[in-house]
Amino acid sequence: MMQNALTDLLGIEHPIIQAPMASAATPEMVIAASEAGALGSLGAAYMSPDEIRSSIHQIRRATIRPFQVNLFSPPEPRKLSDSDVGRAMEPLRAIRQELDLTEPNEVPQFKDQFLAQLKVLLEENISIIGFHFGLPETEEVEQVKASGALLIGCATRPSDAVILEQSGADIIVAQGFEAGGHQGTFIAAEEPSTIGLMSLIPQIVDAVSVPVIAAGGLMDGRGLAAALALGAGAGQLGTAFLATQESKAHDLHKKLLLERKGGVPRFTRAFSGRPARGIVNRMMEDIEKTPNAILPFPYQHILTSEIRAVAAKTNKPEFLSMWAGQGANMVRNMSTGEMVRVLAKELEIASGIQRVV
Ligand SMILES: Cc1cc2nc3c(=O)[nH]c(=O)nc-3n(C[C@H](O)[C@H](O)[C@H](O)COP(=O)(O)O)c2cc1C
Repeated sequence: MMQNALTDLLGIEHPIIQAPMASAATPEMVIAASEAGALGSLGAAYMSPDEIRSSIHQIRRATIRPFQVNLFSPPEPRKLSDSDVGRAMEPLRAIRQELDLTEPNEVPQFKDQFLAQLKVLLEENISIIGFHFGLPETEEVEQVKASGALLIGCATRPSDAVILEQSGADIIVAQGFEAGGHQGTFIAAEEPSTIGLMSLIPQIVDAVSVPVIAAGGLMDGRGLAAALALGAGAGQLGTAFLATQESKAHDLHKKLLLERKGGVPRFTRAFSGRPARGIVNRMMEDIEKTPNAILPFPYQHILTSEIRAVAAKTNKPEFLSMWAGQGANMVRNMSTGEMVRVLAKELEIASGIQRVV
């Protein structure tokens, strides 16, 4: 009943996308979302090519419904000096000591896996491919287009959306300021865009001719109905799925969300070097005391990853990156499949298609 040009293009029943979430969305989540009639999305940015391939096989064994695989467009390699790294290490020193971690001997190196990851997507004939942080180089965009896959890009400003459409995007995610996790900005990438979703959707819808997906702060059917009323073809929800049993967010992260103790999540570059919205904790605040020492993405991500991994094992939420959007205090305790079904029903009610019984 809620179908439109975008749901037809994607081959889905409901105008609902389970957001790609590197580090949180699992193949099980993708399967459950797609089976329930939404578009399940595998956030594969932090996976090795082999992990991506086996996740795709796992999803295909369980569902014949469409799903998306999403990657991060590769960052520009940068040369870091020893003093840059030394400065960035400074606020981490006390945290490392607390966790009994010795100082790393060498600067962690960035190993660009992007081309190998993309190769797997093309070999596996993935039919819906999304990129965060802009589109990759023309050559790779051409490979995706030649494969016949639908290409999704993410815009946080109307001008970004125009660039994405001109570069070949078939569908554009309008990601509002409210969104959890990394902002998809790719122009002046270290400066977060500040446009909220209500203002962003109609501006992007008017600026491009391709379908638009709305993302950021959508937590229930009311939000979805509002996004569709403003011209989006579907809503993409990340935070709403973070506390589901299929999510691999840390249990303490889920608990904070379910107990509605996440406060007001805010942007930080402290964990990765790029603006990402998450629950405020000590690590964020300690690192932000010297904002100029934060390394660019992905170097800050690499530099903080050992701390985050040990914090996860030893249950120390003060040192975890706990991404969440501004709707964090509306998270509900449901499985992924149930969430999609409830959202679809709420959307129909909010849109006046179905009455509350
Ligand atoms: C934990 C987490 C991880 C995310 N990882 C990705 C990702 O890998 N790729 C991507 O395109 N977007 C990613 N996002 C952003 C989502 O696609 C989406 O824009 C956002 O979740 C929407 O806002 P909401 O969380 O308020 O629903 C992530 C979001 C979260 C919360």
